[in-house]
Amino acid sequence: MSISLPPVALYRRIFTLLDREPEVRDGPMVLLPGTVRGAVALESVWFPYPRAHARTAEGALGAAGAGGGELAARGVEFAVPAGGLCALVGPSGAGKTTMLHLMPRFHDPSAGRATLDGVDLRAYSLQSLHQVIGLVPQEP
Ligand SMILES: Nc1ncnc2c1ncn2[C@@H]1O[C@H](COP(=O)(O)OP(=O)(O)OP(=O)(O)O)[C@@H](O)[C@H]1O
Ligand SMILES: [Mg+2]
Repeated sequence: MSISLPPVALYRRIFTLLDREPEVRDGPMVLLPGTVRGAVALESVWFPYPRAHARTAEGALGAAGAGGGELAARGVEFAVPAGGLCALVGPSGAGKTTMLHLMPRFHDPSAGRATLDGVDLRAYSLQSLHQVIGLVPQEP
């Protein structure tokens, strides 16, 4: 007769992951879809990926950032007016996708701010923010 024991180490790792506090916190403001004009801007945005997850690639921007990781943005600045169209162009690894991912707040800037209609994205509830953003990812 054989007795199979639960894989304790596996569960421990799963619960460690589930217990992690998200770095991106919900904001108090609820966005109503009909009221969004759609002006977006990045103001002096700096963003380092955490060192533990940092990938290295040819063309990665710069040395270690304030958070200890690879800097994917240093002082990035741009504004797209409501109804405008914007194309981010640059070499592979320049940080285009990373900049885009600031809009649905997959991560927040370490300095500077990303805004929608002039309001810092951190003020919005994540659920309502995600209801007004359409995103077609580059990677499935
Ligand atoms: N999740 C991640 N964790 C750590 N580093 C990352 C992560 N995503 C991207 N990077 C690093 O950040 C830098 C910018 O990557 P990003 O994907 O934003 O570039 P990109 O301009 O969209 O490139 P491509 O044209 O190949 O799509 C690269 O050095 C990349 O290796
Ligand atoms: Mg990309």
